[in-house]
Amino acid sequence: MLLPGSADLPDAGVLAQLQAAQDRFAPFIMQYKFGIDEIMTKISILREEFVQTHAYNPIEHVTSRLKTPERLMDKIARKECPHTFEHIREAITDIAGVRVVCSFISDTYLIFDMLVSQSDVTLLQVKDYIRDPKPNGYQSLHAIVEVPVFLSDGPRPVVVELQIRTIAMDFWASLEHKIYYKYRDDVPQRLLDQLTEAAGAAYTLDTTMESLHQEVLGLGQRPGTAEPTTDA
Ligand code: GTP
Ligand code: MG
Repeated sequence: MLLPGSADLPDAGVLAQLQAAQDRFAPFIMQYKFGIDEIMTKISILREEFVQTHAYNPIEHVTSRLKTPERLMDKIARKECPHTFEHIREAITDIAGVRVVCSFISDTYLIFDMLVSQSDVTLLQVKDYIRDPKPNGYQSLHAIVEVPVFLSDGPRPVVVELQIRTIAMDFWASLEHKIYYKYRDDVPQRLLDQLTEAAGAAYTLDTTMESLHQEVLGLGQRPGTAEPTTDA
């Protein structure tokens, strides 16, 4: 740790260099924060409008995160990415991340379609781990999109990673992430087996809930019956 008066204190030249790096890094990262803001606004509008128009909310909850400078530096090193903003922008597509959690599988595709069909959203990449789960059972619909952010000197395209998944997929992924975080690359086989089993159970729950959901949608509202006002 650097203490005032410590012999380790960088000299004025090094401090000036650090300050200069920080001054250039902050606006770069800020663009990604605005990219998140743009996507979050789009999702919030879609949710509100969908509820108004269809009396149905396809989104359970939405979270976002900006990669920390430490994690970004780790990834730059791991990917052996040259230290220029252009290269970082190209190589690291998850500096800005938004996760949308839906109740039903069909809603994940609905949200995806509604977002990427917007004229200012450019779809750069899709990985459909719902249709093709990872070998460990991970399921989620991933998309890398680009949205313009309007700054004082003009528009800037910003890359945002979208993860859209069901509650069951999200439940599984967060636990799996915690387990890997705890054991690093040394997860006991017993836990790996249980995780695979849990992924199967999540999949069964999702497909059963989806077919019930479709059946209820197909029923529509019968004459003389009132829609329940709560889900209790
Ligand atoms: P990075 O791992 O971020 O470099 O991305 P990638 O190029 O491998 O892309 P991918 O779309 O496979 O994964 C992107 C993100 O999805 C990851 O950073 C995680 O947040 C999430 N993810 C992917 N695979 C898994 C998984 O097996 N388990 C969990 N819990 N999350 C995953
Ligand atoms: Mg990532």
